Amino acid sequence: MNDSKRIKESEITDENTYLNRRNFIRAGLLAGTTVASGLGYRLLNPPPPRPVETADIKGVTKSGNASLTDEPNSLEEIANYNNYYEFSTSKTGVAGAAENFKTRPWTVSVDGLVRKPRVFGIEDILKIDQEERIYRFRCVEGWSMVIPWVGFPIKRIFDIVEPLGNAKYVAFQTFYGGSNPRGEGVDLPEGANGMQSSLFAGIPFPYVEGLRLDEALHPLAILATGIYGKVLPNQNGAPIRLVVPWKYGFKSIKSVVRITLTSEQPPTTWSKAAPNEYGFYSNVNPEVDHPRWSQATERRIGELSRRDTLMFNGYGEEVAGLYKGMDLKREY
Ligand code: MTE
Repeated sequence: MNDSKRIKESEITDENTYLNRRNFIRAGLLAGTTVASGLGYRLLNPPPPRPVETADIKGVTKSGNASLTDEPNSLEEIANYNNYYEFSTSKTGVAGAAENFKTRPWTVSVDGLVRKPRVFGIEDILKIDQEERIYRFRCVEGWSMVIPWVGFPIKRIFDIVEPLGNAKYVAFQTFYGGSNPRGEGVDLPEGANGMQSSLFAGIPFPYVEGLRLDEALHPLAILATGIYGKVLPNQNGAPIRLVVPWKYGFKSIKSVVRITLTSEQPPTTWSKAAPNEYGFYSNVNPEVDHPRWSQATERRIGELSRRDTLMFNGYGEEVAGLYKGMDLKREY
């Protein structure tokens, strides 16, 4: 790892005090004064937005999302306000911290309850037809954007590996720490590529997420490889990340290296960290508040006044059927 890119202890603090990084390992690590002075420094000196330099993706179908009239956010906004705790807990700090993240070579292993388990090279995945999908994106913290993703329905991958009849869930895992993929709480080796220890992030790594198989098979659930027709910037989860537009943003796991079909509901990072605050489903729902704040409204990045949050983030017509008969207050 390049030492100049290593996050300094004084920078480990965070403006989004609301996501509960309840300190399972790092309690006591950071003195309160360090946190306070770091935050003060950053509020006075936010880093300038970084220019986004990525290559064009060729042959993207412009299918878009016909019902969406919202204006998309700019690439500069999308690539400079990020949550990616492996790199930094500062939204404006992720882009710089992830600058040297190496996304080649890259493989995605698809295994578990499938007839034909396979390790895909990213080059093979990129041969799948890519299309543009302009989606609303709502973070559980109460901000939102509109993002023109490039990607393809996850179903395309499942059509290749053929899930078995007893597969009911899908577990996803983010890259972590190169040769030390389970390096929780230890010094990371060279291969960590700029990622930080979970000690500093306050959540366990590798980051994991999950969906029910029928949710993953829904045509709106995509694996994204780009934004605005360009290769996904590192800070947005290069080279491939999940996007589930009707769920809170933390379900949309970044830099995926493993997809495992299972019969049991898989663990997810945020529900491990704070089970009473983040559930497995995490569908956008203005009527179910987070224990510490309302989810009724949201701040669209770039707008001054708040707007109403929509049930299933506005995708109810397409996805409500997945949750028929469920009590969404209980299964949050
Ligand atoms: N995936 C990993 N591996 N690590 C993370 O910290 N943050 C999640 C999600 N996926 C996160 C992640 C959260 S909280 C949000 S809101 C979105 O990524 C942010 O995606 P963006 O930075 O592309 O807007």
